[in-house]
Amino acid sequence: MTEANGAIIDAKEVTRHYRIGRGLLRGVAVLQAVAGVSFRIEPGRTLAVVGESGCGKSTLARLVTMIERPTSGDLTIEGVPMATADRDALKRLRPVVQMVFQNPYASLNPRKQVGTILEEPLRINSGLGAAARREAAREMMAKVGLRPEHYGRYPHMFSGGQRQRIAIARALMLRPKVVVADEPVSALDVSIRAQVLNLMMDLQAEFNLAYMFISHDLGVVRHIADEIMVMYLGRVAEQGTRDSIFSRPPRHPYTQALLGSTPSVDPAKRRARLPIKGELPSPLDPPPGCAFHRRCPFATEICAIERPELRPVDGRLVACHHAERTVAPA
Ligand SMILES: Nc1ncnc2c1ncn2[C@@H]1O[C@H](COP(=O)(O)OP(=O)(O)OP(=O)(O)O)[C@@H](O)[C@H]1O
Ligand code: SF4
Ligand SMILES: [Mg+2]
Repeated sequence: MTEANGAIIDAKEVTRHYRIGRGLLRGVAVLQAVAGVSFRIEPGRTLAVVGESGCGKSTLARLVTMIERPTSGDLTIEGVPMATADRDALKRLRPVVQMVFQNPYASLNPRKQVGTILEEPLRINSGLGAAARREAAREMMAKVGLRPEHYGRYPHMFSGGQRQRIAIARALMLRPKVVVADEPVSALDVSIRAQVLNLMMDLQAEFNLAYMFISHDLGVVRHIADEIMVMYLGRVAEQGTRDSIFSRPPRHPYTQALLGSTPSVDPAKRRARLPIKGELPSPLDPPPGCAFHRRCPFATEICAIERPELRPVDGRLVACHHAERTVAPA
């Protein structure tokens, strides 16, 4: 167990707005991409962030990787508050949090050899000489399951899964404490997803890495997450340890629906599925009350009026007025 104050990343009520509109209309509307989200990322642990397209996952990734700053709320990285961090502090912190993207075809420069791609972060951020950089790259290649002869090859010569191994190796070159992985296996063939997930778990154990693992698929994070945060339209719907959410039924109707949309071979589980009806509302004009109310089979009058606060229910946090009655009593 990590001690309570051991978080590398500590987010309290973090919010990120965007002003929308072009030309004269610039700034007429405010889009809340992330609204009042709190979480901690501790060494060696995995926080999974799950939700449909547009719920704010990548926005959260940009905040945690210091590409953007929160509009409000407290985001602290290695004890440094982002609200007041100056350029030097950010420069010092950047190597601590590295990123792996969804599409390994777009994220690797096709004109550079694997060795060059891996050594680039060291050339920019370390004082290592050419020989030491080469040595470090070769060492990391072995750790992610690439062969020595791959050093001089170009990205197009590799399969999607191998490219993602290259991207993971590149992210680890600066020995980060946190890797933010934004849908890292979504673009890969189903048959090789497990290999890449297993590799990520092995590397986590070896380097005591923390992951912020982003996925639209609750099923994918089931085996790798320690903590799970389910988001809907920029807010947290349900949040807790993996066991609190998977060993008992989820309490938020949206989490239940997400779980239902994961294919299940077990007919009993299939029957328990809850379809998500209707369209995702526009984040520019979110419904009043609970943003999920127009799609929710449990919705009552209060759901359209009052926004449910995140509160403890059955060992996890749930933002639902009716969390006590969304599952049948045992
Ligand atoms: N720079 C920006 N300017 C304006 N709106 C933005 C910007 N970035 C994101 N948004 C909006 O914020 C919301 C959240 O976007 P985000 O990319 O974080 O979602 P996501 O959960 O990563 O979705 P996906 O699963 O499609 O990747 C969306 O409505 C998006 O259109
Ligand atoms: S607050 Fe109401 S609408 Fe929202 S998830 Fe709970 S029951 Fe459904
Ligand atoms: Mg995204």
